[in-house]
Amino acid sequence: MERVRIGLVGLGTVGASFYELLTANADEIGRRLGVAIEVPVVAVRDPSRPRRVGPGTRVVGGPREILDDPTLPVVVELVGGTGVAYEVVREALGRGKHVITANKALLAAHGEELFALARSKGVELLFEASVCGGIPIVKVLRESLLGNRIDRILGIVNGTSNFILTRMSEEGLGYAEALAEAQAKGFAEADPAMDVSGADAAQKISLLASLAFGTWVDWRAVLCEGITAVTPRDIAFARSAGYVFKPVAAASRVEGRPLVTVYPAMVPVGHPLATVRGEFNGVMVDSDFLGSSVYQGRGAGGRPTASSLASDLGDLARILAAGPAAYPRVPAFERRELFPAERLRCRCCFHFVTANRPGIWALVTGTLADNGINIESVHQKWEDRTLPSDLFVLVDEAEEGQLRRALSQVIASPGISAESRYFRILDGEAGTGGNG
Ligand code: HSE
Repeated sequence: MERVRIGLVGLGTVGASFYELLTANADEIGRRLGVAIEVPVVAVRDPSRPRRVGPGTRVVGGPREILDDPTLPVVVELVGGTGVAYEVVREALGRGKHVITANKALLAAHGEELFALARSKGVELLFEASVCGGIPIVKVLRESLLGNRIDRILGIVNGTSNFILTRMSEEGLGYAEALAEAQAKGFAEADPAMDVSGADAAQKISLLASLAFGTWVDWRAVLCEGITAVTPRDIAFARSAGYVFKPVAAASRVEGRPLVTVYPAMVPVGHPLATVRGEFNGVMVDSDFLGSSVYQGRGAGGRPTASSLASDLGDLARILAAGPAAYPRVPAFERRELFPAERLRCRCCFHFVTANRPGIWALVTGTLADNGINIESVHQKWEDRTLPSDLFVLVDEAEEGQLRRALSQVIASPGISAESRYFRILDGEAGTGGNG
C-alpha cells in the first residue's frame, strides 16, 4: 500500500483527537483510501510533557524539524490563533507542502494571502475542520453543490452560543451558568468572548459566503451581534409567540452583492434550524437546482473536528498517491463591496422596557409609524404597576435603518429604558425571508 507521511503541529484537544483517530481507525482508513497514513513527527511547544503517541511518532519542540523535512509533504496545523500558526502555514506552503488547518481565525485574518500562496506553489490549503467542526459543509459548497447557484446560507455555526441559548430556553439556566457549562465541556474558544459576541460565527459564515459567492468577505464588515442581549424575559415572550432564540449566521445575495449577518434571531418553532439544539451546528443551503438542503451535526470539540481533518487528509493522500489530480482548488476570489447591512429587510420584535404610565403605547406606536414601520401586534404583561414593564411589539418587514432609527428615537424619550432593543425574526419557510 502507498504511504503518506504527515507532520502534525499542535497536540492540544483537536491535535490529540486527530492523532487518536489516525491510530484507532488506521485499518479502516487504509482499506477505504488505499493509502496508509503515517505520523512520524509531532511538534509541540513543550516536548518534556508526557504525550500519548505511539512508538512510530517522535515528539519534538517547535515546528522547525517538520518544516525542514522534505519527506513530509503534508503539514497539519492545529496550533490555533494567528501567531505561530500563521508562520507555520506560510512557511509550509512556501516550501511546497500541502497544509490542512482547523483554524478559521487564521483564514479570516490571512486567508486571501495564504490561498494565493498555495495557488502559486501548486499546493493545497484545506480547511474543512475550520467551519462547523465535523459537518462537511466546506465540501458541500465546494464540491457537492458545484452545479448549483447558491442563493442563501443560513446556519447555526457557533456551538457555544447555541448551547447557551438552548440551556437558557429549555432548563431556565442563567446566562453565566450556561456559559460556564459550555466552557467546562470544551466547546468554547480560549476567549469565550469570541463565541458570545458573534465573532467566531462571523469568521465562519464569511468563509462559507466566500466559497459560495466567489467573493472575499471580510468578517469585520459583517453585521455582527452576539447573544449577550438575550434575556430570560425575551426567551419567555418568544416561546409564547411560537419562536425559539437561535444564534443565526446568514449569507445571501442581494442586488448581486453579498449580505452577511450574525445575530440572535427568533426562529419559528417549525423551522429546520429550530431543532438544532445544544452544542450542535446546523446549516441550511438554498440553491437553485437542489432547493433547500440541511446539514447538521457536532460543530465543536476534538473528535468531530478530527473527523473533518481526516476527510481533508484523505483528499490529499489521493492527490499524492495518484499525482496532481484535478482537485477543486480555492479559486482567486474577486473583491466586491458587500450589500449594506442597514438595508437588510426583516420582520422583528421590539422589546421596550418602559415606565408604567399613560402615554407609553402612544409614544412607541407613534414613533414606529413615523418611521414607516407597520405594527403586527403589541403584547404587554405586568403584575406590579410600580415596576418597569416589558412591551413587546412585533412588526412587519422593515429595513435595518428604519428599525435602528425608531429604536434610538424611542429610547431618547422619557420613560423608556436604554435596555430596549429589537430581535430579528427568521421567516418560517425555507428559502424565504432575505437574511432573516
Ligand atoms: N468555539 C467554537 C464553537 C468551536 O463553540 O462553535 C470551534 O470553532
